[in-house]
Amino acid sequence: MEMTEWLKICALEDIPRQGARVVRGATGNIAVFRTLDDEVFALDDRCPHKGGPLSQGIVAGKRVACPLHGWHIELDSGVAVAPDEGCAARHPIKIEAGMVYLAASALALAPQAAKIACAGH
Ligand code: FES
Repeated sequence: MEMTEWLKICALEDIPRQGARVVRGATGNIAVFRTLDDEVFALDDRCPHKGGPLSQGIVAGKRVACPLHGWHIELDSGVAVAPDEGCAARHPIKIEAGMVYLAASALALAPQAAKIACAGH
């Protein structure tokens, strides 16, 4: 049985392709990205470099380029592409019937954040 409680965020169509939409999370803003292939990913809206708003970056493939200094962040892991180092926390996200859902625990409504720890950091 699935334990995660999901909350509907918006329709997939509400997120621009290769762009993002910002959702207020339990511990700060969450950037919800949509790729050209209509995959979605959710990361903290804070670049691991100096906190730039990743939601304002351009998505290419499964990476987003930070608008401030151009670091590239892997959307599926939150990890900065080498030689840069660091990681933005991920949040559970899914698409169902054209609607985007985030884990309730990631959102401001929930008392506890359930971030997915960065692998290897
Ligand atoms: S803050 Fe993102 S690259 Fe510097």
